[in-house]
Amino acid sequence: MITTLDGTTPLAHNTQMPMIGYGTWQVTDAAQATAGVKEAIAAGYRHIDTAAVYGNEEAVGRGIAEGLAEAGLSRKDLFVTTKLWNDHRGHDAALAGIEESLSRLGLDYVDLYLIHWPANSRQHPQDWRALNASTWSGMEEIYASGRARAIGVSNFTRKHLEALLSDASVAPMVNQIELHPGFGQWDAAECSKANGLAVEAWSPLGSGRVLGDPALGAVAAQIGRTPAQVALRWLLQQDIAILPKSVTPERIRSNAELFDFELSPAQMEAVRAVVDDTEHSDPDQVDF
Ligand code: A2P
Repeated sequence: MITTLDGTTPLAHNTQMPMIGYGTWQVTDAAQATAGVKEAIAAGYRHIDTAAVYGNEEAVGRGIAEGLAEAGLSRKDLFVTTKLWNDHRGHDAALAGIEESLSRLGLDYVDLYLIHWPANSRQHPQDWRALNASTWSGMEEIYASGRARAIGVSNFTRKHLEALLSDASVAPMVNQIELHPGFGQWDAAECSKANGLAVEAWSPLGSGRVLGDPALGAVAAQIGRTPAQVALRWLLQQDIAILPKSVTPERIRSNAELFDFELSPAQMEAVRAVVDDTEHSDPDQVDF
């Protein structure tokens, strides 16, 4: 029997988003991307996250079609996210971007379409705000057309989000940002939640870097879970949706076994001691 993973969060405008999504960033090998998506659907994931820039939309789309067929499910049973890349900023380019992504995915709509990165003040010192507003007007049109059932942003800091909220007719429904033990865009998360956006974590395992951290290991040992499960549960308990990436079937499955345990307040606090001292991207300073 196929179990459906529990736990959805309502987005503005009545879409339900499953809190656990299968992340496909850095899955560049097509066969691996297709196999991973199929494995995830079979394991009960009902949310798949990709992006134009990942270069795997075709392979992910194949995995979706085959995975749904094998599980006896239909398109409406799955929540699919993709993202508009930075070379498609502005109203008209955004409209083209969704068509290109849908064509690669082999879908006629996505459940969530995100602006991947804000135009920032390093690259667009004069017009970053206007450029984001223009892109967003395209996103609003895409939403109105039904080609995306929900629209949102990714990597938006408080600065980018507050500007966009002032300029938008339809408020973004989601902000997907880097969040994991040891590092997080916490101010952006707080600002997003305060404005009614759901928050999603990319790299919820710190791309695997933080899994050997002793603080995480100690909590995992206490409760007989893996460090990855502790990291993921820690985010879920803060109402943050998670997008763990793995190409390893056993990890795909165990990363989603998160609803039969709970971290105590002391364990939640203990995970705050995790250290990740690698350099992280500042969305207002990146040059891509
Ligand atoms: P792999 O894909 O080879 O299984 P993130 O989701 O933060 O981007 O992290 C993804 C990285 O973490 C990948 O390198 C992935 O490896 C690894 N990973 C995913 N799940 C686990 C797990 N349960 N245990 C150990 N490493 C994991």
